[in-house]
Amino acid sequence: MNLNYVSEPLSINNIALPNRIVFPAFQTNYATSDGFVTERLFRFYGTIAQGGSGLIIAGAMAVSDDGTPNTNALKINNDKYVAGLKELFSLIKKNGAVPAAQLLHAGRQTLSAMTGHPLVAPSAIPCPVMKETPLELDEHGIKRIQDDFVNAAGRAKKAGAELIELHGAFGYLIGAFLSPYSNKRRDEYGTDKALFFTEIIEKVKRKVGDMPISCRISADEFVDGGLTLDDTIKITPRLVDAGADVISVAAGTYASMAHMAPTRDMGEGVHTHIAQGIRDVVEVPVICAGNIRSLEYANNVIREKKADLVAICRPQVADPFFVKKSVNNQPVAQCTDCGTCLFFLHGASAVSCPQNPEL
Ligand SMILES: Cc1cc2nc3c(=O)[nH]c(=O)nc-3n(C[C@H](O)[C@H](O)[C@H](O)COP(=O)(O)O)c2cc1C
Ligand code: SF4
Repeated sequence: MNLNYVSEPLSINNIALPNRIVFPAFQTNYATSDGFVTERLFRFYGTIAQGGSGLIIAGAMAVSDDGTPNTNALKINNDKYVAGLKELFSLIKKNGAVPAAQLLHAGRQTLSAMTGHPLVAPSAIPCPVMKETPLELDEHGIKRIQDDFVNAAGRAKKAGAELIELHGAFGYLIGAFLSPYSNKRRDEYGTDKALFFTEIIEKVKRKVGDMPISCRISADEFVDGGLTLDDTIKITPRLVDAGADVISVAAGTYASMAHMAPTRDMGEGVHTHIAQGIRDVVEVPVICAGNIRSLEYANNVIREKKADLVAICRPQVADPFFVKKSVNNQPVAQCTDCGTCLFFLHGASAVSCPQNPEL
């Protein structure tokens, strides 16, 4: 098997990735109920980091109390979280991968019963899945949450993350601002739907300097009235102008959940063409994701210049040694698309996987 392209190192600003495989952000719900790192998370990321991915994006981590996505999500909205995260990032690094942190505000795609705070969003429109009407953020609220992202980025850097990912995908707060589907504002944050995000990127850049910033977006939301590739190929160059060093292409929102974690029957690399559409309009590296089930396929994605990095998530959950085993032509425990890891869809408390009893 020729894996020359996917095995090629890549430098981004001041970091050097040993290869092109990414373990993307994956919410496990393994943190404590107040957002601290646990032994279970050390085990999870420690093992994945030994498995051979070049970049591991830990999280998502909530930047604000009112943006916490789940009962046991990681949090990064206070200095008290830095010590635990430092251990986590250092473990990832020690085990051979570059550690990164994904920063998130869940916006309207959570529940006030979970956060203990009213939900907030660009407009007072409920998410069709969560069904709770959020408060429309005023200018003060917007600045507060932008500052929360900046302070969280500072903490992630202090804790040893080497790349920051801003979660602008899947209809969470940043994604909700970007989209005409959820942003009906009449002020400048509505007439320019990218403004909320570009301001965050600029402010985070000033805080973290040379440390690379990845911006994850749903380049197609697959909902009526939502973002399409035509929209996002206009938006993405503005994110790069604001300071994005990497664009991570995902797809979907809670209302089009199948696209957030696509199944095999949707086709291997189902969103790769979307990543390519974005790559054509930016000069920075692009990550693609979605149903990429073999290193051979990943290698072709890089060789054909459809993306620069390939995120492989559930196959590495099912078998944390997926990358190394594939390189060595050893059999891997395959992700069967059973959906068990989507714990929040069926009332489970956290991620588990029938293929990986160690979780
Ligand atoms: C249980 C679960 C949790 C996820 N959590 C996150 C998350 O916190 N942030 C994020 O950007 N993507 C998240 N994702 C999406 C993955 O990063 C990835 O894009 C998706 O699973 C498609 O890749 P795959 O087909 O290789 O699994 C999650 C996916 C699953 C299945
Ligand atoms: S729980 Fe099922 S869908 Fe999720 S990684 Fe494991 S095998 Fe794949």
